[in-house]
Amino acid sequence: MQEKKVEYDREKTNNVALLKWLDKMVEMCQPQSVRWCDGSKQEWKELTDLMVTQGSMIRLDKKKRPNSFLVRSDPQDVARVESRTFICSYGKDDAGATNNWQEPRKMRAKLKRLFKGCMEGRVMYVIPFCMGPLGSSLSQFGVQVTDSPYVVLNLQIMTRMGQAVLDQLGEKDFFVPCLHSVGFPLKDGVEDVPWPCDPENTHIVHFPEQRTIVSYGSGYGGNALLGKKCLALRIASCMARDNKWMAEHMLILGVESPDGEKTYVAGAFPSACGKTNMAMLIPPESMKGWKVSTVGDDIAWLKPDANGGLRAINPEAGFFGVAPGTSWETNPNAMESMRANTLFTNVALTSDGDVWWEGLTSQPPEGLTDWRGEEWSSESESPAAHPNARFTAPASQCPTIDPDWENPEGVPVSAFIFGGRRMSDIPLVYQSFNWNHGVYLGATLTSETTAAAEGALGNLRRDPMAMLPFCGYNMGDYFRHWIRMGKQLEEKPRIFHVNWFRKDESGKFLWPGFSENMRVLRWIVERSNGRGRAHENPLGWVPKKGDLDWSGLDFSDEQWEELMSIDSEKLRMQTLRHEELFLQLSEFLPKEMLFERELLVSRL
Ligand code: GTP
Ligand code: SPV
Ligand code: MN
Repeated sequence: MQEKKVEYDREKTNNVALLKWLDKMVEMCQPQSVRWCDGSKQEWKELTDLMVTQGSMIRLDKKKRPNSFLVRSDPQDVARVESRTFICSYGKDDAGATNNWQEPRKMRAKLKRLFKGCMEGRVMYVIPFCMGPLGSSLSQFGVQVTDSPYVVLNLQIMTRMGQAVLDQLGEKDFFVPCLHSVGFPLKDGVEDVPWPCDPENTHIVHFPEQRTIVSYGSGYGGNALLGKKCLALRIASCMARDNKWMAEHMLILGVESPDGEKTYVAGAFPSACGKTNMAMLIPPESMKGWKVSTVGDDIAWLKPDANGGLRAINPEAGFFGVAPGTSWETNPNAMESMRANTLFTNVALTSDGDVWWEGLTSQPPEGLTDWRGEEWSSESESPAAHPNARFTAPASQCPTIDPDWENPEGVPVSAFIFGGRRMSDIPLVYQSFNWNHGVYLGATLTSETTAAAEGALGNLRRDPMAMLPFCGYNMGDYFRHWIRMGKQLEEKPRIFHVNWFRKDESGKFLWPGFSENMRVLRWIVERSNGRGRAHENPLGWVPKKGDLDWSGLDFSDEQWEELMSIDSEKLRMQTLRHEELFLQLSEFLPKEMLFERELLVSRL
């Protein structure tokens, strides 16, 4: 291959490390040209026009869905690929048994081959971005290089990006270099396709010691929007371990009581288990005066403050939410957030130029085009929208966005909630006896698998703190870090476990969920503020029926008993099965976790 020298504007920044890195990337990837992204409206217009012209994007009806677009991905590129996600630390034990590891030098050699000339015939976009509010000491800079205009448009919504970031980055500030290519060079007359990708060679690679990210072959979600799971969780979890803070897969919300007392809560739920819904919860009308506000729906960075408490920021600026199941009934705030200026990926298209997905309305409209671009009717065998179809919407459009969501100091967090999808066995809510017991609840979090990642649906999988796919180092050390944070904090958040998904024998949800979750949230907030009644059971502190606010909801004593019941024998068997994960972590498992298990078994 004839290597050509591609020129680019070197005046945009005086950050020497950045220019040096860009020189190397340009030389390796051999793009046709290089474009600095500024995050402007003009850039949005140009890139959406370009993608529409190329047939990669459909402009939705300008009245129904102003400035919004539909993109259909390649059917082989629809979710995060955990089997192709790597943590390439120097030592295998630093990545730990729950991560894919490869020797960094071998991986670099492989990546070099894949990236050589991979942007031929394409534009290399350079995206300076900031995770967290600009100017916050809790934020982090990144620069993503990509050949996907779809990624640029998504990052315009999901991050703060552009010249303002370069200005703040200055001459020598630190940034995380994020290299991304869809892996579809246009060489030797190869014609472009609507969604270029290279599923066979997909690699999402993290070098934790160097704090760098390299992703090849996929254009979808967490594989390609590198500020999100790659930087804000996998790399940030390593930064957090080293600098005594926390990077977690958590929503953040605020609860305001009728007398104006504000309490912030962060919740870890595995992918597609209801974080977005909970972050935007609307209390039932009958719970007069209670309000919920949204800080974030997916990721929380938490740092100790001067008073020994924890303060959280949402490192993101938008929502990349699961579309199916979202409706005016289940989540009106999400629906409002995506009224305009929104990207939709892999949803169905209506005949009048709007979007549809399973669960949006009880009856599908006539004349739908499915996520693959084919005619669809209710007789069709496959769903109209892909189960992991997503909307990308600006957080600022959320009607309940918290006044402090961009506060550079973050918001004070009083409670952590862990929750998974559990059809059976696990009651609606319980509180841990203390911090380490709470860490154990997080460490043993288990959920039925969803469509947000590859793999069979509905199996039980251990997902400690909902971080299994997102922890950038050894999971045993991560538990140890949690225990250490507990010692460091004077004002520790209280820790709870919830399950909205328990079903009865006929397969019906026992708990109405959604808005009604406010009843549980109120109890959690009151417990965290040192009020609220609770009773001891083998799992933890639990409410009796009378301890919850039931105004306006008919819920019988029998339903409550079934929802909260525990079967000690079954739970003991399940507890012993935690052994699997604990054995996998072997010598890295903190002994505190074994003590907690012993205590639980004996209580049961
Ligand atoms: P990621 O973005 O993948 O990290 O996931 P998320 O946790 O933000 O997922 P999301 O909030 O989009 O979860 C969507 C799914 O959870 C949908 O299928 C909802 O119907 C379901 N869901 C959310 N809240 C509830 C609830 O209270 N009860 C029940 N039964 N289902 C719920
Ligand atoms: C998740 O899977 O937890 C997500 C979607 O939030 S993605 O950004 O694709 O990782
Ligand atoms: Mn997530």
